Amino acid sequence: MYYPEELVEEVRQKNDIVDVISGYVSLQKKGSNYMCCCPFHGEKTPSFSVNRARQIYKCFGCGEGGNVLTFVMKYENCTFPEALKMLAEKAGVELPKAEYSEEARRREGRRQRLLEVNKEAAKFYYYQLRTDRGIRAKEYLDKRRLSDDTRKNFGLGYAPSRGEELLMYLHQKGFTDDLIRDVGLAKVDERRGTTTQFWNRVMFPIQDINHRVIGFGGRIMGDGDSGPKYLNSPETEIFDKSRNLYGMNYARTARTGNIILCEGYMDVISMHQAGFTQAVASLGTAFTPGQAGLIKKYTKDVFLAYDSDGAGVKAALRAIRILRDAGMSGRIINMAPYKDPDEFIKNLGQEAFQERIDHAENSFLFEIRMLERDFDMDDPEQKTNFHNQIARRLCDFGEDVERENYIEAVAQKYHIGFENLRKLVVNMAAKTGGFAVQTMERPKSGVQGRNRNTPEENVKKSQRLLLTWLTDYPQLYAKIKSYITPEDFTEELYSRVARRMFEDIEKNQFNPAGIINMFEDEKEQSEAASLFTTKLPELESEQEKEKAFHDILVRVKKNSYAYYSAKSGVDISALSRVIEGKKALEELNKTHISFH
Ligand code: GTP
Ligand code: MN
Repeated sequence: MYYPEELVEEVRQKNDIVDVISGYVSLQKKGSNYMCCCPFHGEKTPSFSVNRARQIYKCFGCGEGGNVLTFVMKYENCTFPEALKMLAEKAGVELPKAEYSEEARRREGRRQRLLEVNKEAAKFYYYQLRTDRGIRAKEYLDKRRLSDDTRKNFGLGYAPSRGEELLMYLHQKGFTDDLIRDVGLAKVDERRGTTTQFWNRVMFPIQDINHRVIGFGGRIMGDGDSGPKYLNSPETEIFDKSRNLYGMNYARTARTGNIILCEGYMDVISMHQAGFTQAVASLGTAFTPGQAGLIKKYTKDVFLAYDSDGAGVKAALRAIRILRDAGMSGRIINMAPYKDPDEFIKNLGQEAFQERIDHAENSFLFEIRMLERDFDMDDPEQKTNFHNQIARRLCDFGEDVERENYIEAVAQKYHIGFENLRKLVVNMAAKTGGFAVQTMERPKSGVQGRNRNTPEENVKKSQRLLLTWLTDYPQLYAKIKSYITPEDFTEELYSRVARRMFEDIEKNQFNPAGIINMFEDEKEQSEAASLFTTKLPELESEQEKEKAFHDILVRVKKNSYAYYSAKSGVDISALSRVIEGKKALEELNKTHISFH
């Protein structure tokens, strides 16, 4: 759906950013800003700032920033059209109804239809659990000590032994065998006709983050029952096992700032029942990068509550690497002496589990501890081997401080001399090609992990600063417009911002928040927002300010001149820019630009 820009602007202007954000978090007025602890990363001292005049927000801790629309998108974890709808409703602005293309409408209609089948099936199973036929399932859930609320919350049900009943029910609702098959609830076979996937099992509807039933898991109730312990729906058009997580529909709003990743449905359910509503589990398959990506939308802080047996440890080690590749940190919850979170909580309770969370083990140290099990420490050769392996892994830390900290922690824990281990690590790095290059995103206070001081970054920085100056002093634009054009901003995003900003200033209707709306991508919005919130150097005198501004202007122009000169061999329009740029630069060098 495309919404015209004027409409987006109207919605934005009718929703004051301070009012809207106050509805989510509690803001304190500090000078001309409103401050609070950032809702997008964990912190104890407030660095999240909202500016009413500019209608934008910015966190100086994690770099997150934008306008009222991006805030709602980020906080509600929703798309741009969804955020727009919410805010439009709030302000009483009417949005035009969607006009889908034929193809899109057909696809959407099909998805809706499949979801309806699942919804009806879930209702059917839910109802069966509450009839006499479901008595064994009910007793089973009693035995597992699930409360009525929990059963309701997770929509638990029962698939009766006679599969035909579900089919009859769904036929009655108007669904065809083909549809029932396509959603994974039945198999169609020439000899046996249509048979249901699930029978005589306790049913766990699997929901996506919007609470829609996309598939099912079914568990046998006793050791005597036939078939595998858990049976899941196959992957279908609406059930992608690698991109959904059980329990995520509730975990996404848990606001604990972390996610607890478990192995089983039952683990998730017991954890939620005990108040840990941030628990999720993968869907009968191993944890995937797609699932890591889903979690990362909400938090980077993950606790692993995997089974304590060999298979659980192996799965945990795999998950740690997937999380690390996604730039997230994992900590491991020790379940001993119990097998899984469900048993732990049943035996030791909620508080004991919270304590285990508080003492969860750093994933690197967990990996080393697991590695240790493969070596016999009484054998000097094996011990040396172990130390070498540790050293090799320590080389993976690209950042000096972090690596030193880990060297220290490991040295202490395994009684290796700090200097010895350090030497080992350095030697290992020399042998294997140095320390890992820093590739992971690591938010650093205020600078967003930018690579500083490379020539490209310096160029970007000048362009960024020039736009920031103009945000604070829009009146300067009139004085510099004969020297500078949007094309002088060789960074694509900055150039787009400049074009719009110059137009707006000309029309006397410049506002930063409106410019952020130009970008649909979250990263770009944040980047654009940072243009308006970069802190300019605190300069005392007017003279200093004028000099700084002049320097930046010249720097941007020089870079643009160099950029187009390099291109002018192949590009005619670049050549004219070069000529124009040279003239402008010469003039600029002689010109004094005053702030008044
Ligand atoms: P409970 O025995 O009910 O407590 O199960 P659990 O939640 O402890 O699960 P377990 O650790 O045994 O298995 C973890 C997850 O793996 C389950 O939630 C299922 O998704 C999946 N799983 C377990 N057994 C089977 C099986 O036999 N077949 C398939 N396809 N998946 C299984
Ligand atoms: Mn279990």
